[in-house]
Amino acid sequence: MKQVTIRVPATTANLGPGFDAFGCALSLYTDVTFEETDSGLEITGCDESFTGPDNLAYTAYCAVLSSLSEEIRGVKIHIRTQIPICRGLGSSAALLVAGAMGANVLRGRKLSTQGLLNITNAMEGHPDNLAPAFFGGLTASMVDNGLPVTVNFPLHPGWEFLALVPDFDLPTPLARSVLPTEYDRADAVYNISHGAMVLKALELGDEKLLRSAMQDRIHQPYRKGMIADYDQIQGLIRTTGAAFCLSGAGPTLLCITRNPGLQEKLAGKLGLITQAHWDMLPLHVEFQGARVLSEQA
Ligand code: HSE
Repeated sequence: MKQVTIRVPATTANLGPGFDAFGCALSLYTDVTFEETDSGLEITGCDESFTGPDNLAYTAYCAVLSSLSEEIRGVKIHIRTQIPICRGLGSSAALLVAGAMGANVLRGRKLSTQGLLNITNAMEGHPDNLAPAFFGGLTASMVDNGLPVTVNFPLHPGWEFLALVPDFDLPTPLARSVLPTEYDRADAVYNISHGAMVLKALELGDEKLLRSAMQDRIHQPYRKGMIADYDQIQGLIRTTGAAFCLSGAGPTLLCITRNPGLQEKLAGKLGLITQAHWDMLPLHVEFQGARVLSEQA
């Protein structure tokens, strides 16, 4: 039976003010193997609660087959992931991307990557994780006439990324439910101007500019109350000079710096000011997007 394994990188979305628009691929991976069978659905490698037909890799797999008017036969799906689940590092987007790309490869690569992004964006509702998961690197996306348009931006090579990942999750629908549906013009101007500066600061490697540009008035102020010890951790990060933002919808907190040794500076201190346990994951930007790891005809 035909089989393909797809590798998709983790992603951090928003990067502060770029709500639902900016994203960056990072060096953690989800590998998903799809093997066509005569009938039925079998999903392994994940929690029992994710093994039904609502599994995101399977729903994206089916969406692509439907868009190709191809028959949905049986499939075995095996998931191996390093991306923490429901922590704001793109675990859901990785499954959607893997499912879409897996189906497309198994049925003759009829769709382009942009076509797969169009389908998965209609499922996820915003392209900020999906775009860097497909294309790699730092991306900004807009949705125009219902379709996502993505561009890649250059990044200075000297940045170091450190993700602080807590032992509690925060489902994205909950993190979105606390956001206002309308904003003041001043807040819109604040985010537009800060967003432009974030992209330039990341390109230049300007940590001071990035630190102030990463502030946001669209989502972080409304979400931080759901993240234990947010203010204390932000205060600690500020003493190091690193730039800081919520990774996606949280609860992971992302630090970006030009100075090596941030993890060592935070070690010990973090445990003293927090109730939860926070893992520190040093990461780098992944410039390669989703790819075929192996394929058997
Ligand atoms: N832009 C999204 C949000 C990312 O902040 O809700 C999480 O899916």
